[in-house]
Amino acid sequence: MKVLVIGGTNFIGPHVVRQLIEMGHEVTVFNRGQTTAELPEEVKWIKGDRHNLSDYRSQFQQLAPEVVLDMIPYTAKDALGVVDTFKDIAQRVVAISSGDVYRARDIVWQKETGIIDRTPLTENSPLRSQLYPYRGLSDEPFAHDYDKIPVEQVLMSATDLPATILRLPMVYGAGDYQHRLYPYFKRMDDKRPAIVLEEKLAHWQGCYGYVENVAYAIALAVNNEKAKGRIYNVAELPGSTVADLVKAIAKIVGWQGEIVIIPKTQMPASWEFKANLNQHWITDSSRLRTELDYTEIVDRDEAFRKTISWERKHPPEEFSEVEKSKLLDYTTEDKVLASLNRS
Ligand SMILES: NC(=O)c1ccc[n+]([C@@H]2O[C@H](COP(=O)([O-])OP(=O)(O)OC[C@H]3O[C@@H](n4cnc5c(N)ncnc54)[C@H](OP(=O)(O)O)[C@@H]3O)[C@@H](O)[C@H]2O)c1
Repeated sequence: MKVLVIGGTNFIGPHVVRQLIEMGHEVTVFNRGQTTAELPEEVKWIKGDRHNLSDYRSQFQQLAPEVVLDMIPYTAKDALGVVDTFKDIAQRVVAISSGDVYRARDIVWQKETGIIDRTPLTENSPLRSQLYPYRGLSDEPFAHDYDKIPVEQVLMSATDLPATILRLPMVYGAGDYQHRLYPYFKRMDDKRPAIVLEEKLAHWQGCYGYVENVAYAIALAVNNEKAKGRIYNVAELPGSTVADLVKAIAKIVGWQGEIVIIPKTQMPASWEFKANLNQHWITDSSRLRTELDYTEIVDRDEAFRKTISWERKHPPEEFSEVEKSKLLDYTTEDKVLASLNRS
C-alpha cells in the first residue's frame, strides 16, 4: 500500500516509517527538510511545508497514496488542509493526537475544577472544556494555536475522508527532545544517596509509551482498514506511579539509593508543585489491543535501557529552570535529607 507520511523525521516519525517499510508498504515522507533521519533507501521524499499543502497537490495526485499518515496536525487549519487536499486522492487518514485532549489534563493543571475523572481514561472520557492549552504560556505561534481537540473534531466529522485518531501518551526513547527520563537517572548517575519525592507526586500515575512501541501502534492503524473511523488511546500497561518509574529506572541503572517519600508539609517551598495530583492521567489502551491486536514489541526494561543509553550520549543542552530547580536541585535535597537525619 502507498502511504504518505506528513512529518516522518525527528523523534517518533522515523520509527513509524521503518515499521511501515517492514510491513511492506511504499512510504513517501513529506517534510520541510529542517530535520533529517536515516531512513531505508526505498523511502521517497517530497519536500514542502504542511501549511501550504495544496501547493503540492499535483505531486500528491501523481503519488496517489491510499493512506495519509499525519504525524503533526496541531490546529484545526492543519486538519482542514489535510481533508481539502486529500479527500479526492486518498482513501483514509490516520492522525496523531495526544492524551492532552482529556479533561483530566486540565484538572491536574488546575484549569478545571470539580469531580476527579475516573481513570484509566477511555476514549469516551470527558474532554477539556477549554481550548488552546498552551496559549499564553509562550510567545511561540505553536503555543498560541495548538489544540488537538479541534484537529480531532475536523477529521472525525469529515465525511469524504475517513479518519483514525491515535491519542499518544508521554513518549520516551532515543531522540526524546523533552528528555522525560533524564532528571531521574541523572540523579542516579550523579550517585545521589536518595531521591526525595513528595508523597502525592510519588503516587501520581501518568501514562507513558516507548517510542518504538508507540510507532508500532501507529503503523498498525495505518496497516489495518478496521481502524477507519476509530479513536485509540496508546499507552503502556499498566500506568506508572512516579515512584514506580524511579524504581524501574533504578533497576536498569543499578542504583542502590533510597526513594524517600515525604509529606507536603516537609517539602521546601521552592519545590511546590502547583497541580492537583488527586487526578491521575492514565489512559486505557484496551481498545487498541483488542481491535488492532496491539502489544508492545519492546519490553519496558529494554525500552529504558535503550533510552538511558541514548540520553547519556545526548544530555539536554538546556534544561528548563523549573525542572532544574525541582528535579536537580541537590543543595535543597541535601537539606531535606539532613532534616530527616538521612544524609
Ligand atoms: N513526544 C511526545 O511525548 C508526544 C506526546 C503526545 C503526542 N505527541 C504527538 O506526536 C506527534 C509527533 O511528535 P514528534 O515529537 O515525533 O514530532 P517531531 O519530532 O517534532 O517531528 C516533527 C516532524 O514534522 C516535520 N514538520 C514540522 N513542521 C512541518 C511543516 N510545517 N511542514 C512539513 N513538515 C513539518 C518535521 O520535519 P521538518 O522540521 O524537517 O519539516 C518532522 O518530520 C505530534 O503530533 C505530537 O503532538 C507527541
